[in-house]
Amino acid sequence: MAQINENFIKIPATYLFSEIAKRVAKHKEENPTAPIIRMGIGDVSLPLPDASVDAMVKAAEEQRSIETFRGYGPEQGYAFLREAIVENDFKANGIDIEADEIFVSDGAKSDTGNIGDIFDKNNRVAITDPSYPVYVDTNAMAGRAGEPTASGEWTNLVYLPCNAENNFVPALPTEKVDLVYLCYPNNPTGTTLTKEQMKVWVDYAKANNVIILFDAAYEAFIIEKNVPHSIYEIEGAKDVAIEFRSFSKTAGFTGTRCGYTVVPKQLMGYSENGDMVALNKLWNRRQTTKFNGTSYVVQRAAEATYTKEGKKQVKSLISIYTENAKIIREGLLAAGYTIFGGINAPYVWAKAPVGLSSWEYFDYLLKEKNIVTTPGAGFGASGEGYVRFSAFGSRENTIEAMSRLKKQ
Ligand code: MLT
Repeated sequence: MAQINENFIKIPATYLFSEIAKRVAKHKEENPTAPIIRMGIGDVSLPLPDASVDAMVKAAEEQRSIETFRGYGPEQGYAFLREAIVENDFKANGIDIEADEIFVSDGAKSDTGNIGDIFDKNNRVAITDPSYPVYVDTNAMAGRAGEPTASGEWTNLVYLPCNAENNFVPALPTEKVDLVYLCYPNNPTGTTLTKEQMKVWVDYAKANNVIILFDAAYEAFIIEKNVPHSIYEIEGAKDVAIEFRSFSKTAGFTGTRCGYTVVPKQLMGYSENGDMVALNKLWNRRQTTKFNGTSYVVQRAAEATYTKEGKKQVKSLISIYTENAKIIREGLLAAGYTIFGGINAPYVWAKAPVGLSSWEYFDYLLKEKNIVTTPGAGFGASGEGYVRFSAFGSRENTIEAMSRLKKQ
C-alpha cells in the first residue's frame, strides 16, 4: 500500500492560479461571447524578442547536423549563458558574482519551490504576507509549515504582514527564524524596498544567522534609482542570500521557460552537528540529481537577450508593460480606488470597495465587467480586501478595462 505525503491533504485543493482559471472557464462557458479581459495571472501578451526567436531557430537548425547536434548539457547551464548572465546582470552593475554561482533552470517558480530540498524540515520560515503562493505551498508540502488554521494560516510559518499601515515594508521577525522569503519588486503588491530598507534585512540576516531567499523575478521593471535590482547590491548579502531571477517577465519567456538561481560559494548552512556546509555544493548536488538542464535551444534564446539588439528589444517590451501599469494606476485612481505599487512593477494592488472580500470583488469584476483579476486573499491573509491587476495584457485591453471600471 503506497502511503501518500499527508501534507498534500492539508494544502488548498487547487493552486491559486488554477482556481482562477477554473472560475474564468466556467464564466466563459456560461457566457460564450463575453469579452473577457485577462488581468489575473502575470502572463505576458507580447511575443518574444526577435533576437531570441532568431537564436532559437539557429539553435534548432544546429540539431539537424551531426557536427552541431547537442545531447545532454551541463545541469547547471551552458557556460555561454552563465557567463552572459554574470557579465550583464552582475559585473555591469559592479556586483562580483562568478559563473559557477549561477544555476540556469526552467524558471523561478521551480527554483523557489525546489530550494526547500536543501533545507531541514525543522527550519523556521518567515514569509511576507501577502506573498507568491509557491513559497507557502511548497513549505507546506515539505511539512515545514505545520498545520493550517481556520484562517488559512500555517502554525509553523512566521507571517510578516505588508499593508498600507506599514507602507508595505515588512517588520523584522520578532521570534527566531532560519529562512526568510523576500520578493522585490513585490509580487503581488507591486511595491519595493529601497537600498536602505534592504540593508536592514541583510544586516539582520547576518546578525541572526538567517538565510534570505530573494525572488528578483520582477527586477527589470525597476525605474527608480534607489531601488536595488539585486540583493547583492547590498554589502554582505553574498553571506546571507540566494537570489532567483527569471526571463519570464523580462523577455516574455513564460511559455519558453528559463530562469536562474544565484548561490554564492561563501553562503553557508549548518549540519546537525554544527559544521558549516556550502549551500552552492548542496544545490549543485540537488540539481545534478533531479534536473537535466534547460534545453540548449532555450538557453541560446536567453543568451540572445544580452546582445545589443536583444537588450533593445527587451527594453521596449518592458516599457510597454510599464506604460500599461501607469494606465492602470491612473484608471483606478480616476475610478476612485485606493491603489499601491505599479511604479517599479507590473502589478497594481487595489483596495476592494468597502464591505467586499477579495473573492467577492473578484467575482463581481468577472461577472459584471468581464475583467479577470487576482483576489488578494489568495496571496495570504493580509491580502484580504485587495485585488491585483496585472499590466501584462495588451494596450488595447488595458485601456478598455479601465474604461469599463469608470462606468459604474
Ligand atoms: C503571478 O501571476 O503571480 C505569476 O505570473 C505567477 C508565476 O510567475 O508563476
